[in-house]
Amino acid sequence: MLARHECPAITARRARRAAALGAADDDPVVWAEAVGANVKDVDGNLFVDLTAGFGVALIGHRHPRVVDAAAAQGHTLLHAMGDAFPDVTRIALLERLAGLAPAGLEVAILGLSGADAVEAAVKTAVIATGRDGVLVFEGAYHGLALGALGLQAYNAGFTAPFRRITHPAVRVLPYGCPATDVANALADGTIGMVLVEPVQGRGGMRAPPDGWLAEVASLTRRSGALFACDEILTGLGRTGSMWAHGEAVPDLLCTGKALAGGFPLSACLGTRAAMDAWGASTGEAIHTQTFLGHPVGCAAALAALDVITEDDVPLRAASIAARLSDHLGAIGLATTGRGLVLGIELPNTLAASRKLLQRGYIAFPAGRRGEVLGLTPSAFLTDEQVDAFVATLAEIA
Ligand SMILES: Cc1ncc(COP(=O)(O)O)c(C=O)c1O
Repeated sequence: MLARHECPAITARRARRAAALGAADDDPVVWAEAVGANVKDVDGNLFVDLTAGFGVALIGHRHPRVVDAAAAQGHTLLHAMGDAFPDVTRIALLERLAGLAPAGLEVAILGLSGADAVEAAVKTAVIATGRDGVLVFEGAYHGLALGALGLQAYNAGFTAPFRRITHPAVRVLPYGCPATDVANALADGTIGMVLVEPVQGRGGMRAPPDGWLAEVASLTRRSGALFACDEILTGLGRTGSMWAHGEAVPDLLCTGKALAGGFPLSACLGTRAAMDAWGASTGEAIHTQTFLGHPVGCAAALAALDVITEDDVPLRAASIAARLSDHLGAIGLATTGRGLVLGIELPNTLAASRKLLQRGYIAFPAGRRGEVLGLTPSAFLTDEQVDAFVATLAEIA
């Protein structure tokens, strides 16, 4: 469904609140329902969600196959016991992930959030290399849990209050920097992991120069560190291929967001060589959590992965992205990023985002200075939805 171009309820409620507060106010849109690319609020306004709920709803909100799989799982095994006992759904998912990952990444540590997967990667690198250091890139965003927080180079304000207790050995280089800078940063042998988003999302919807990732991967390996890709946003087809790392196959690959079609689930996939460093369990697991490999999340993920592969989400993402870029180009707007990690260059992205909301489109600024309007929509966005959005943007931009 298309966005409702007039959202009178929003306007009326804003006016009411502004009158009561004596000042303009960004009244929250209270979500009541979401399906496909659409969100309906409590006032009945219909939005087209161009964020896909932070990138989660790559196959659309509330995909029926995901909902059915989760419901069926709930009727058989709602909760299992983390690492203590395996369960059939989790085993099936782990096998499925190993088949979907690049060759060699056959072992996975499951988590609930993207930050969980990133933290599992950090722990693996520390254990496997004996080195604490992590090299990240300006604009990096890997989640805000305490272990992941120190690795972000997106907004210093996020880390500032906690600086004393965040990761003590993080180096930051510009995204896409010369290879010699990477080589120099790795030279003293203290870096155990280089962590990179193959296309940066929150950091500005930007892809690195061609060949850069492969060069960083090879320098990383030469230095004895692990090369880790954060594909929490970019993975599972969003950029037009199943994974965005291309030939720069990582030792560790973090996935999440779209993985379970709307349920909280993530995974850090790794090579056997890296993961074997954890050693055999001698009793109590040194890395686990109560809801590890939650059965409903695993069932939802199996269904979501079926949709992603059977409906060729990478191809869909590439074709919607091409339509968006072409149509935006035709109205004189330049785009950044790759596939459906797409930025639109606009002079005032915050104002555009607010105006779009009033016209029924959800999209937020991205980048450290909000330099682009970020789109991470569903790969099932229709041509009509794309065209109506571009027409609206042409009117308001
Ligand atoms: C690239 C990337 N990594 C990690 C994360 C953190 O994921 P979560 O918010 O699920 O912890 C995000 C979230 O936006 C992300 O975009």
